[in-house]
Amino acid sequence: MKFEKRILCIGAGFVGGPTAAMIACKCPRYRVTVVDTNKEKIAQWNSAALPVYEPGLDEIVKEARGRNLFFDTDIPGGIRENDVIFVCVNTPTKSFGAGAGMAADLQYWEKTARQILEHARSPKIVVEKSTFPVKTALAMERILNSRNDGVRFDVLSNPEFLAEGTAVRDMEVPDRVLIGSRDSAEGYRARDVLVEIYANWVPREKILTSNIWSSELAKLAANLFLAQRVSTINAVSAVCEKTEADVTEVARIVGMDGRIGPRFLNASIGFGGSCFKKDILNLVYLCRHEGLAEVADYFEAVVRINEYQKERFVLNMLEAMFNTLAGKRVCLFGFAFKANTSDTRESPAIYVAQRLLEEKAEVVVTDPRALENAKTDLKGLAGKVSYVKDPYKAASGCQAIAVMTEWDLYRGLDYGRIFKRMVKPAFIFDGRNILDHELCHEVGFNVYPVGKPGLTHFA
Ligand code: NAD
Ligand code: UGA
Repeated sequence: MKFEKRILCIGAGFVGGPTAAMIACKCPRYRVTVVDTNKEKIAQWNSAALPVYEPGLDEIVKEARGRNLFFDTDIPGGIRENDVIFVCVNTPTKSFGAGAGMAADLQYWEKTARQILEHARSPKIVVEKSTFPVKTALAMERILNSRNDGVRFDVLSNPEFLAEGTAVRDMEVPDRVLIGSRDSAEGYRARDVLVEIYANWVPREKILTSNIWSSELAKLAANLFLAQRVSTINAVSAVCEKTEADVTEVARIVGMDGRIGPRFLNASIGFGGSCFKKDILNLVYLCRHEGLAEVADYFEAVVRINEYQKERFVLNMLEAMFNTLAGKRVCLFGFAFKANTSDTRESPAIYVAQRLLEEKAEVVVTDPRALENAKTDLKGLAGKVSYVKDPYKAASGCQAIAVMTEWDLYRGLDYGRIFKRMVKPAFIFDGRNILDHELCHEVGFNVYPVGKPGLTHFA
């Protein structure tokens, strides 16, 4: 079959795999290939057990795989044979050298740019799908145009806004698709090619076009705004705990203001995930570099409050449990950084588990999807950790439950049954405010939510 367009995604991770699957599903006339340096991951994408757990993803991969969606390890071949290349490689925080702990580590991106340069024999539209520092497109253009042999490269910025756990829906019905291009005839031509791809399923009024640097910055700014809301409500939760106000009530009242809106106001143990912290620190680095120290401090506070919230949660546990956790078994309900994903990158549960082990507690981890990742995250830590899939068995013999992830599963458990098998006095620390606190208190637990008064049986 002759395909109308040939599209390549470099990087078969949380973004590359689902993005390719969505395009292939919505555009059967296009051939979409995903390549990765990680052979094992490509084998998983070609198997029944995908490397990423996302509701609805199995179905769309099954529909298109082998028809017009292909997962492969041949990167040079992929570059040669495709015209539009989405770069979806990871851009973690740099862990070495200048800017360590703050700047983006661009080695994977630069390697990709050089691979494209080495293997391309015909014009390519190179699309930045990963989240990059502002002005990365300029560096990409400079590398790609260093060969000067007449092969044309156009670089676009098309940042991804999907959230894990809802990735399929977010891509299928996005709030907006953003395409940044150079303000030139060639830039507009390349941009229009990408607009036509998305227009197969996204209404045109939701496809925004902008200057390329605005596009790169808007992605970072969007994550900053979202994370800032979580840090703000978490800071408010600390005040609630000192004043007997209830953070859920405060959030509802504040969120009913049309200018503020109700979403992203759930107080928690802190935000996790691979992007919020890294993207904010990336902005902080840029601001410091550009002499914007006040702005950098302001942005950085969002991350600092997040660290504070995680530590505050542990200190609250310690205080409630008579200032010692040594030898006590604590069960973590959930390990994923949010519900409906197996991803544990930067999960607050990692921090809480580490701190509990430092306090010489025994940790039992339960999670419906993330136990394998939890094992990797906690490997090598001193102390006793066990992993139990069934939450009833996991909590049995423990003195406390700490809710780390807002899995629906945990709302519907029989807490009377759980209480009976725990060491008394038994505690629940609800780091997500998802349980029925009155009910848990009634069956015997001492209950400590985030940002509201505790319900205890102590005089
Ligand atoms: P990931 O780590 O899950 O996947 C990245 C993949 O790229 C890995 O499989 C890696 O092996 C591969 N890779 C690295 N260098 C390569 C190379 N030279 N050639 C081929 N493959 C290579 O990362 P992710 O979560 O998919 O994130 C990718 C980018 O998208 C990041 O910049 C991230 O900030 C951004 N983003 C992520 C999300 C999300 O929800 N995870 C959402 C929006 C944006
Ligand atoms: C986030 C953004 O929502 C996406 O738009 C963006 O594309 C993505 O980052 C990215 O760039 O990687 P994600 O991290 O997958 O998506 O998940 P979110 O739903 O944003 O949750 C992030 C963290 O904040 C989670 O730990 C979540 O539990 C926490 N959170 C969220 C709260 O604690 N309270 C809230 O009210 C909302």
